[in-house]
Amino acid sequence: MTSHVLDSLNLDARESAALAADYERFREGLPARLEEYVRDSYRLDLSSEYGGLAVKNPFGKASGQLSLNTGQVRRDAEDGLGFAVLKTIIAEDERGGQSMSEWAVHETRMLVERIKGSDGTQGWTVTWKGRGWYDTFEKYLEFFGEAVGAGVAARMPVVPSCKYHLPRPGEAGWKTGEYEYTTRRLLDVWEKSWPGREPMPIEKDFSPTLAGSDRAAESQTIIRWLTQVTGLIRRAAAPRPVSIGLKFFNAVFGEDFQLEMLRAVNEECTGEEAPDFHVYANRLFDAEREFGGVRGVAYGGPDLSARNLSVLARLRALEQAGEVKACRAPLSATGNITSGRAAAAYLLRGASTFQIHTYFQLPSREYAMRSGGKTARALHELYFNPEAGLVAWLLHLRRAFGWPEDWNVKRMADFCAEPSNRVRGEREPALPAR
Ligand SMILES: Cc1cc2nc3c(=O)[nH]c(=O)nc-3n(C[C@H](O)[C@H](O)[C@H](O)COP(=O)(O)O)c2cc1C
Repeated sequence: MTSHVLDSLNLDARESAALAADYERFREGLPARLEEYVRDSYRLDLSSEYGGLAVKNPFGKASGQLSLNTGQVRRDAEDGLGFAVLKTIIAEDERGGQSMSEWAVHETRMLVERIKGSDGTQGWTVTWKGRGWYDTFEKYLEFFGEAVGAGVAARMPVVPSCKYHLPRPGEAGWKTGEYEYTTRRLLDVWEKSWPGREPMPIEKDFSPTLAGSDRAAESQTIIRWLTQVTGLIRRAAAPRPVSIGLKFFNAVFGEDFQLEMLRAVNEECTGEEAPDFHVYANRLFDAEREFGGVRGVAYGGPDLSARNLSVLARLRALEQAGEVKACRAPLSATGNITSGRAAAAYLLRGASTFQIHTYFQLPSREYAMRSGGKTARALHELYFNPEAGLVAWLLHLRRAFGWPEDWNVKRMADFCAEPSNRVRGEREPALPAR
């Protein structure tokens, strides 16, 4: 078996000692100017790009229950998060018609529990039966404006996520009124609240719950959605620009189909039909498991990252072999990112930012930091854990690949995404139990 660059951490004694000391010291609280500190102490530039916006660091909050009120966003900004994706809004037309209203479910109870991957690796998953935003669209718009404002001083971009109409198998038309009305109202808020002139990024959510729905029962229907929604959103926004991210989901059809989804978007979508960035990939679906009287639940944990990393590695290997067109869309990773090393595994497949939900909601005893909010506690581990943190693994990768010191995370990700730069025959690195 060939060795993998993530198998063992190679740091010099000075780096290891500095990291061990920082990990201890920052248990009491992260430095106020964390990115500057990391640049000065480790000559590492943590900045990156998300949806066309500069971000000071690559860690973001993935859309969900942890970004549905302004208080949460404000605390994340104080805690030093790089960016936040808000809870998914269910699109509506100007008369309030919502074809996806079955996703606007009010549910608050979440169960954070341990889960074992099929290879025996221990991890965490969150189980619940809710779906999208359940309050009114007007309330979402108000929240969106406040949330963007709450991020500005901390240079933390805050962006919306939306689930628009998706036709069922056999349903011919698209409800473009939902695309138009919802996108334009969101753009109005963005233009008022965001001080820059960059186009608003928006994530198109398909949600893993779709994996268990009759809407997603046919693979060709899914390919139709994936290849057509970007053009619909862009035309709905026109003449205003928008930066569209497709959040891929794990369908029930297995790995080969995941590759087909990525290839379809990359090879069939051109010009305004092509998304500006990809988010890969939302949770797995267990059709058998019952929770709170509902059969079929989405789940995460080690199987999610194993699946996502394997699909992305296969995609990159096919690109490298010249068998598929190289995908140039920037990639934001999601799925069981519970350590800097896990982020590094996604980085090696070309991801320039890392979106997290589950790791921001573990029981407090799972983090070494003993006070503060969960975002700060999680970031402390994600950056400074001497064996598993991002600082350690970026230093390691920089040495392994000979990257210049002035490369930021985005530049490293671009290097990894470039087909001619990839190492042939890499096997999958196992992610550690956490
Ligand atoms: C409780 C919960 C609610 C979520 N809600 C949404 C959502 O509204 N929209 C969305 O795109 N993803 C949603 N997600 C998926 C997350 O954004 C994320 O992509 C996924 O959980 C994988 O990341 P993780 O392994 O760090 O949890 C949700 C996840 C959880 C656990």
